[in-house]
Amino acid sequence: MRGIRQHVNPLGLKYMEPRARPLARPDHLARGCRVEVELGCADADFSFELAAKRPERWVVGLEIREACVARNQRRARAEGLRNISFAYVNMNVDLDRVFPPASVDRFHLLFPDPWFKSRHRKRRVVEPALLATLRQQLRADGELHFASDVFAVALAAMSEIEDPSQEQLGLRNLAGEWSFWRGNPMPAASRRERTTLARGQRVWRIRYGLNPPALSPARSR
Ligand SMILES: C[S@@+](CC[C@H](N)C(=O)[O-])C[C@H]1O[C@@H](n2cnc3c(N)ncnc32)[C@H](O)[C@@H]1O
Repeated sequence: MRGIRQHVNPLGLKYMEPRARPLARPDHLARGCRVEVELGCADADFSFELAAKRPERWVVGLEIREACVARNQRRARAEGLRNISFAYVNMNVDLDRVFPPASVDRFHLLFPDPWFKSRHRKRRVVEPALLATLRQQLRADGELHFASDVFAVALAAMSEIEDPSQEQLGLRNLAGEWSFWRGNPMPAASRRERTTLARGQRVWRIRYGLNPPALSPARSR
């Protein structure tokens, strides 16, 4: 992305002040429509593809780099996509402001920045406070979809979510405990996913469901 900073420090003072704003569903979408949210969307290839293929759903891309948000909003207008929205968030600080409780069907956390060295532990995005917010904002049969090209990052996320202390969240690994999901079950892929596969590297994917499909009626993708 030319002219847009590659990284910002989510722990920088500027980003620690909660300032994300509540997002309103586009008027033309049904009140109970499915809501899919990509966290840390960058150029949002995944969200754009999903929104184009599922026009009846509300697709939301959230990102800490405001220049990406503005650019994605321009692209959505240029492509005439009316079921997609973009906004600022620092997901570890103010995601709780964006959606009301029990209103999101699926969070996609795709290729978060690889802070995998132990000295970077405090920068990992998957941490208990984020999980509590996701749990609060997911609908009763909601899902958290995570992917990384860095095994250590994916394993750290899995350890955090499947830690016994997080049992009360009710998030169940859809591939079975401590297991990765094979292949991409979504009708879209992010830019990072495509470049990872093009290099012949592996995508480490995990899916967590609340009241997963084995216990509730099958859901469409
Ligand atoms: C490696 S990129 C992945 C982009 C895209 N999801 C993909 O798969 O191609 C990670 C993105 O997450 C954003 N990000 C990092 N920390 C964040 C945070 N705390 N809140 C929101 N976005 C964040 C970064 O700015 C970056 O755009």
